[in-house]
Amino acid sequence: MNILLLNGPNLNMLGKREPEVYGHRTLQDIVQALKESATANGARLEHLQSNAEHELIDKIHAGFGNTDFIIINPGAFTHTSVALRDALLSVSVPFIEVHLSNVHAREPFRHHSYLADVAQGVICGLGEQGYHFALQAALQHGNGPHS
Ligand code: DQA
Repeated sequence: MNILLLNGPNLNMLGKREPEVYGHRTLQDIVQALKESATANGARLEHLQSNAEHELIDKIHAGFGNTDFIIINPGAFTHTSVALRDALLSVSVPFIEVHLSNVHAREPFRHHSYLADVAQGVICGLGEQGYHFALQAALQHGNGPHS
């Protein structure tokens, strides 16, 4: 099973960036733990972090036909990007939207997502654990009757 993990803008700053909101672990720490967990479960996890919308879109397109599941923290693009929504719809790959923080407990502009209604699920407010729950769901999807 091929899982694509995408992290959007400013998530490269994890560990340094507002640690009271986003925690002390770096993105590298988080991705390494997820890769180990995926490998232990017989899956392959590929990761891209980008601050550029088009790079995330290009990566989604490149996975057409060979990606089984996408886990995405779109960062601020969550609240702005129709293009990212359309890219995810264009490849028909199930995806889970993850946010480290509870976006609903923050500024009103973070309450709306352009992706949430077409996601299989949304996990927010659970920090790094949210990515691990998303990975478990992806793995179970891979074992399911429709895999
Ligand atoms: C975020 C929440 C977004 O509102 C914000 O722009 C981010 C990170 C999160 O993981 O909590 O960059 O996606």
